[in-house]
Amino acid sequence: MPVIALVGNKGGAGKTTLSVNLSSCLAKNKSVAVIDADPQGSAHQWREFSDNENAIPVFHNTEQLGSYSSQLLNDYEYVLIDCPPSVHAPQTTSVISFCDIALIPVQPSPVDLWATIHIEEAVENARGTNPGLQALLVINQLEVRTTMSRVVREAVTEIGLPVADTALRRRAIYRSSALEGKSVFDMGKRGADAAAELEQLMQEIIRL
Ligand SMILES: Nc1ncnc2c1ncn2[C@@H]1O[C@H](COP(=O)(O)OP(=O)(O)OP(=O)(O)O)[C@@H](O)[C@H]1O
Ligand SMILES: [Mg+2]
Repeated sequence: MPVIALVGNKGGAGKTTLSVNLSSCLAKNKSVAVIDADPQGSAHQWREFSDNENAIPVFHNTEQLGSYSSQLLNDYEYVLIDCPPSVHAPQTTSVISFCDIALIPVQPSPVDLWATIHIEEAVENARGTNPGLQALLVINQLEVRTTMSRVVREAVTEIGLPVADTALRRRAIYRSSALEGKSVFDMGKRGADAAAELEQLMQEIIRL
């Protein structure tokens, strides 16, 4: 499952946050490259903030993504692709036509869930040419104690795509680490809870 894409139809769902942090999670024992396929270039910017020379490479590229990622797989075991916030963007259409796994972060809000309906259609269409495509919704920014989160967690299971058992909580460390060009894995004890939930999510992804 070497090509993992972060896709979505709603801005701010957590695609870039997951690209950055899941790539760091994988990089502990695998070689990983990130393609920033979003014309906004946020994942790329994150890397620019980093002062770590051994940091995961982030390539900003919005065209010919299929051949570009095959090329990277000559040198890296995994390629993560951060897509723009629309399933109708040409980059997203291209990426889901060849990636192995599409991860779809969703915030626990009704508006975000409605936007997810279009993703289900896009995934179905992509399976015409990419029959092995796996898609997984990941609830992000969950606030455990709110009723809304519980209701949304139930509603999300109505969508015709599998939902990861592991949800990511809303945690300030996801924001503060990004400001320093880091992942939660670089934040020591302060990042430990976030790192643990990401590890758990990664176990689910690898089992797909
Ligand atoms: N679990 C979380 N806890 C707290 N903050 C989070 C979490 N996930 C994401 N964020 C914050 O939410 C904002 C949006 O996240 P992010 O940029 O990853 O979304 P995106 O889907 O890539 O957005 P866009 O569609 O604009 O590319 C960022 O400020 C990020 O730091
Ligand atoms: Mg983004």
